[in-house]
Amino acid sequence: MDLKIVLLGPPGSGKGTQTERLVAEFGFTKISTGDLLREAVRNGTELGVKAKGFMDAGKLVPDDLVVGLIREKLKGLKGGVLLDGFPRSLEQAQKLEEFFNVEMAVDLEVNPEVLIRRLTERRSCRACNSVFHLEFNPPKKAGSCDKCGGELYQRSDDTEKVVRERFTTYTERTAPLTEYYRKKGVLKSVDGMGAIDDVYKRIAAVIKTARK
Ligand code: AP5
Ligand code: MG
Ligand code: ZN
Repeated sequence: MDLKIVLLGPPGSGKGTQTERLVAEFGFTKISTGDLLREAVRNGTELGVKAKGFMDAGKLVPDDLVVGLIREKLKGLKGGVLLDGFPRSLEQAQKLEEFFNVEMAVDLEVNPEVLIRRLTERRSCRACNSVFHLEFNPPKKAGSCDKCGGELYQRSDDTEKVVRERFTTYTERTAPLTEYYRKKGVLKSVDGMGAIDDVYKRIAAVIKTARK
């Protein structure tokens, strides 16, 4: 499907989880700034070295670094695109407009109480970035990814202390984007509470109404 979507929502709202499924069904190209930055940190690239301290502190990586990364990834890309974790500040959203037309902003709404538990018991695949949860979405075999057999690990920013910082950052910097996209007439708020499958059905239904 040829739709340009951004996925909004607080840490742990299910952006990564839902992105995996949306890509499988609709064939979007996914760009996740979180995954790309973690890869850069792992590989010790110049970007990774600059980004690491901000990520470990639960702060946003500076806009110019992340906008440059997205600009590079979007270059020459055809077809539907799903941005997971970008934009996350008004400045990023304004910059994005220079080279990408957001046709739909899906905002996952989740009560804050459930987010800490989702994050502190999350496990992520080192190889393919799939996400699991020890209780809510456990892997079939402990410690290994259902999709690729890769090793599951706990993100270094998934400690309760850093998670609280990420919430603060979200409230101050990212939450205003909901209003920004509402004013543009492209906001679709989706209830992100309940089972993963149920949330998926809600998002898929919204996307199907905009079929193109
Ligand atoms: P990023 O990786 O984007 O982290 P985030 O926004 O904090 O979001 P998460 O990935 O933690 O949560 P999610 O919404 O994807 O939830 P998930 O599906 O995994 O960013 C990390 C850092 O990178 C930032 O702090 C920043 O430093 C930097 N960064 C990234 N982008 C940036 C940008 N644009 N600008 C500047 N800096 C940037 O689900 C969470 C857990 O819950 C999983 O275990 C899952 O199995 C479970 N779960 C999901 N849905 C449900 C459900 N319905 N019921 C029960 N459990 C569920
Ligand atoms: Mg994620
Ligand atoms: Zn994997």
